Amino acid sequence: MRAVVVPEAGGVELRTVADPEPRDGEVVVQIVAAAINRRDLRIVEPESRWSFPRPFVLGSDGAGIRTDTGEEVIICPSLAWGEDQSAPEPDWRILGGPDDGTFAELVSVPAENLFPRPPGFSWQEAAALPLAGLTAYRALFPVGGLREGETVLVLGAGSGVSTLAVPLAAQAGARVIVTSSSDEKIARARSLGADAGVNYASGEWVDEVRELTGGGGVDLVVDSVGATWMDSLRCLRRGGRMAVFGANGGAHVDVDVRFTFFNWLSILGTAMGSLADFAALLAMVERASWRPAVDSVRPLAETADAFARIEAQAHFGKLVLQVR
Ligand SMILES: NC(=O)c1ccc[n+]([C@@H]2O[C@H](COP(=O)([O-])OP(=O)(O)OC[C@H]3O[C@@H](n4cnc5c(N)ncnc54)[C@H](OP(=O)(O)O)[C@@H]3O)[C@@H](O)[C@H]2O)c1
Repeated sequence: MRAVVVPEAGGVELRTVADPEPRDGEVVVQIVAAAINRRDLRIVEPESRWSFPRPFVLGSDGAGIRTDTGEEVIICPSLAWGEDQSAPEPDWRILGGPDDGTFAELVSVPAENLFPRPPGFSWQEAAALPLAGLTAYRALFPVGGLREGETVLVLGAGSGVSTLAVPLAAQAGARVIVTSSSDEKIARARSLGADAGVNYASGEWVDEVRELTGGGGVDLVVDSVGATWMDSLRCLRRGGRMAVFGANGGAHVDVDVRFTFFNWLSILGTAMGSLADFAALLAMVERASWRPAVDSVRPLAETADAFARIEAQAHFGKLVLQVR
């Protein structure tokens, strides 16, 4: 089969490789469309902090056809989470390193990770949903505790996760504020359900966010940037929550801990989610009128070009790879 492989030296290479051999409990899926996540860019770096044995097939997100039943499916990329909903088992993994992933004509995955393709979703929209949608869903609801009528701030409107967090939060009846480096992306976020947006490139975005809440602050911040933690905390109301799962802008921050406890703030770490979270996401999506924002669609051979577009932060939403 054709697959995008991470060779020994890093980077990506379209190769012909052996078809996958399913292990016990696994099913082979014929991939129709796959989608790219920030993680894919990080794990192909020559000195990546993920030291998976190379070569392996890249890719966490995919939608396709079960080769055993012919059913149209979407793949949950969270492998071996286990039963505890608060955190996964020690052997929890994300599909696409070390396990061979979805940027391929065929992938073998545990049957329990296969769910029906959401009704009304194109193949591209289905492929765009899993990793980012699961992360956004868990950060907003099981972890962030977002309720109808609350206000949530989502950082970086153009990010794949943010373009799913915005419509999910709006669907739940929350007021959504976004930040972005681009006024055009703020306008696009509004079309996904955001109520207002602030351009973080133009300086005092914390003050602007607080003004949008009448000075009181937001109930929840969804922060995938990392370097912004202190500013995000300043956007919260007393007793507010910050759900964190990324370090796009840097992994080390200087936080005044007194600001946190004297404002009764909660910092809530999360990553991906369980199969139960994924099922709950799909149940919500079935009732939705919105669809995932697909930035662009390319063949597998153009994976590196798609990576360059993400590195340049030129994208809005998910970059999809059309496999068949
Ligand atoms: N822990 C997990 O399970 C998990 C899962 C998924 C993602 N993540 C992490 O979450 C982050 C986002 O992932 P992704 O795939 O959605 O990434 P992505 O699509 O590459 O998002 C990049 C976007 O981040 C925004 N950004 C960068 N610096 C910013 C800043 N200083 N302030 C506000 N926004 C900023 C920019 O938005 P604008 O273009 O609008 O300015 C940029 O376009 C990454 O760090 C990723 O590793 C973690």
